[in-house]
Amino acid sequence: MKRKLVLTRFGLTRFGLTRFGLTRLGLTWLGLTAISTAPADTIDTTGQEPWERCGYCHGIDGISMSPRFPHLAGQRADYLAKQLLDFGSGRRTNDEGAMRAQAEILADDEREQIVAYFSAQPGPEPQAELRSESAERLLMTGDSARAIPACVSCHGTKAAGNGQAPALASQQADYLRKQLDDFANGKRANDALNVMPAIAKALSVQERASLSSYLAGIPRTAVQEARQP
Ligand code: HEC
Ligand code: HEC
Repeated sequence: MKRKLVLTRFGLTRFGLTRFGLTRLGLTWLGLTAISTAPADTIDTTGQEPWERCGYCHGIDGISMSPRFPHLAGQRADYLAKQLLDFGSGRRTNDEGAMRAQAEILADDEREQIVAYFSAQPGPEPQAELRSESAERLLMTGDSARAIPACVSCHGTKAAGNGQAPALASQQADYLRKQLDDFANGKRANDALNVMPAIAKALSVQERASLSSYLAGIPRTAVQEARQP
């Protein structure tokens, strides 16, 4: 637990300084200092917003500092809500147990508040772009010979999310690759449409990796533009 807290403190420092300015930094810093020096069983969570403990791993603004933890900022609300229900009910189990404990204790109103909070945060910045023509082709047109549909046909223009399909653009590359591998090997089996397992299996290991890096490098412009007043 200590390591996670240290990691998040770094995340928060960066976030406080670069994203929200000093007031917010001050508040979060005070809160976290108290938490990180207290033994786990004496942490007083009174007065904490329900999303604050999510921030230990995912970043308080939903921008995670570790490739193990997906960014939640700017993700589709419907998708976030479904994942929390799936983790809580044990339908999604590819998280090595990290999320079930977090999700199953959430009351309905807490889950709604958390989802509203993270989905409204400004989305992540793209990682360094790794251009790959074959990945771009799979993303935009798929491969009919292998019955792989274009990713954007579900995940939306610029992979910014649509319907039940999450935003993939600017997500952590390693996280995306793990999800594709997990869909392919059956570790992640919570897709209600049951399309992702077949798609992931049809992709080679190399293609899963290059698609993930490529997606992580695409800006989430469609989402950001849609949010402009
Ligand atoms: C101890 C670390 C930890 C904490 C605290 C934590 N998570 Fe997670 N979360 C993870 C990990 C690890 C994964 C990725 C699992 C995987 O590899 O599939 C994850 C995945 C998720 C996902 C799936 C995202 C996607 O794109 O599919 C959502 C949603 C999520 N967490 C929400 C939350 C919320 C909300 C909270 C607070 C109530 C929270 N998490 C607290 C570790 C954590
Ligand atoms: C027919 C629609 C459809 C197509 C086509 C499709 N997806 Fe998906 N994808 C989904 C849905 C729906 C989910 C969410 C499943 C769930 O509820 O957990 C998803 C989830 C994912 C995730 C998990 C993201 C996360 O945050 O955990 C990844 C990665 C992904 N898709 C990649 C791809 C790639 C790459 C392609 C193209 C090769 C693709 N998808 C094509 C519907 C689709």
